[in-house]
Amino acid sequence: MNQSMLAIRHTSAEDIRELIDLAAQFKADIEAGREVDAGPRRTIGLLFFENSTRTRVSFEQACNYLNYRVVNFSGSGSSLSKGESLKDTILTLKHERLEAVVMRHRASGAAQLAAEYFGGPLVNAGDGQHEHPTQALGDGLTVLSHKGKLEGLRVAIVGDIMHSRVARSNAWLFSKLGCEVRFVGPRTLIPGSTAKLPGEVYYDLRTGISGADVVMCLRLQKERMTEGRLSSLGEYRRLYQINRRTLKWAADDALVMHPGPINRGVEVDDLTADGPQSVISDQVTNGVYVRMAVLNWVFQKQMAAVAK
Ligand code: NCD
Repeated sequence: MNQSMLAIRHTSAEDIRELIDLAAQFKADIEAGREVDAGPRRTIGLLFFENSTRTRVSFEQACNYLNYRVVNFSGSGSSLSKGESLKDTILTLKHERLEAVVMRHRASGAAQLAAEYFGGPLVNAGDGQHEHPTQALGDGLTVLSHKGKLEGLRVAIVGDIMHSRVARSNAWLFSKLGCEVRFVGPRTLIPGSTAKLPGEVYYDLRTGISGADVVMCLRLQKERMTEGRLSSLGEYRRLYQINRRTLKWAADDALVMHPGPINRGVEVDDLTADGPQSVISDQVTNGVYVRMAVLNWVFQKQMAAVAK
């Protein structure tokens, strides 16, 4: 199983560093217009059972740069709508000889299950509220390229922690690489289970982001809120929005991040999302390079496992 990328929680700091380094090399090659040496040409299945813009396109673009072939598959329009199970779907793709599968699914834990059925490399592109490892790797590369280091930085993750797989993967990644991680948001959106994540909880925005080197905003994930978690959007905005006034509480050179899609004017205002401290567009671009790194790395691991 070590050839899959399922969760940052189960990835060693050494592997995370290796992946970020590899992504930085790919970035340098692409920006210099050099050919990328990605080894044998692979066939990758992209399975998206949930909506996606950035993640899906960036995996596809990563495959283009690596010169890998892509087979696209979406939940609707497949036999899933005839009631086929995840197991039979994955086994079908295995017998059709796809060499790796990238999967996004609404259920937490689906990636692990699918990797067991598939048996070969599987990359988790987001499973429910559990993890989104390639988003965190891209965010790690983004912070590293702006700050020159990760160790010792204070990273405040602000907003809807409860429903966010991005928050979970990033908390693991930044803490494993020596950062101080903080979760900031209303009580109703920071679950008790956050206690099992590496980071301190703050319910007050000012204290939570004070001195932060990175302020990571999260989208309010209304589609996952089955019960009323917010008394009003206006109140959320007033207490937790990142804007010119509240950003002053963080370090002067704090980076503003957001995994997208943004609810503009809710978790972050326009001036800040598009302002000089924002690195949101770099997160998107770096997403391509880390996905190249992960897709290339899963095969290297597989070859190493065979060679043993
Ligand atoms: C996130 C996701 O889908 O987990 N987006 C992304 O992949 N960049 C965050 C979100 O949907 O809010």
